[in-house]
Amino acid sequence: MKKEPILAPSLLSADFSDLSGALKMIEKGGGKWAHIDVMDGVFVPQITYGQPVISSLRAKTDLVFDVHLMTVSPELSIESFKKSGADYITFQWEATVHHHRVVQQIHEVGAKAGISLVPSTPVSALSEILPEVDLVLVMTVNPGFGGQKLIERCVSKISQLCEIREKMGLDFKISVDGGINSKTVESVLSAGADVIVSGSAFFSGEFKWNY
Ligand code: DX5
Ligand code: ZN
Repeated sequence: MKKEPILAPSLLSADFSDLSGALKMIEKGGGKWAHIDVMDGVFVPQITYGQPVISSLRAKTDLVFDVHLMTVSPELSIESFKKSGADYITFQWEATVHHHRVVQQIHEVGAKAGISLVPSTPVSALSEILPEVDLVLVMTVNPGFGGQKLIERCVSKISQLCEIREKMGLDFKISVDGGINSKTVESVLSAGADVIVSGSAFFSGEFKWNY
């Protein structure tokens, strides 16, 4: 039986001067997870926030913290992100060659491990690592900024992953990130996404969750 989808609003589009208020908005708006985009100014041009900010938010809510690392050398900071309160730690496939090692590290510290693909990375890149992960994050925009338009071609990666998951008897979650709003959500849900990340559309009030 298909489980109910999970809404994971992205703090990237929240008011950074009131992040605890943003957590309340997520709770009131039907979010079960808070998607926390960590950008290092190297893997992507912007810099957002890191472990100290996440730690202070951890004390304010019981939401699942879904930390999305858009950083180079993710292996250097796994332990500290877990200590700061991350439940899921997702890193970019493109940021390392040591996918297996990073997934192991995430599990060793007691977090759930996610791996994410930029639009130009095919699902086939994951073939050896899929049995090890708890989540695959399909990026439907190029990482780095909120408010971009969903790249439709990427949506088929969700159905490809559903098919592979079934064939291999695996149970990782499929999350989708980028350009999700009231118009695009149906297409990613019907492709089989389990977790819906939404930043600008959620925080502007355009996208209301009723699933
Ligand atoms: C982009 C981030 C996203 C971002 C999505 O690099 O990974 O999580 O917040 O923003 P929207 O929903 O506005 O496309
Ligand atoms: Zn993200």
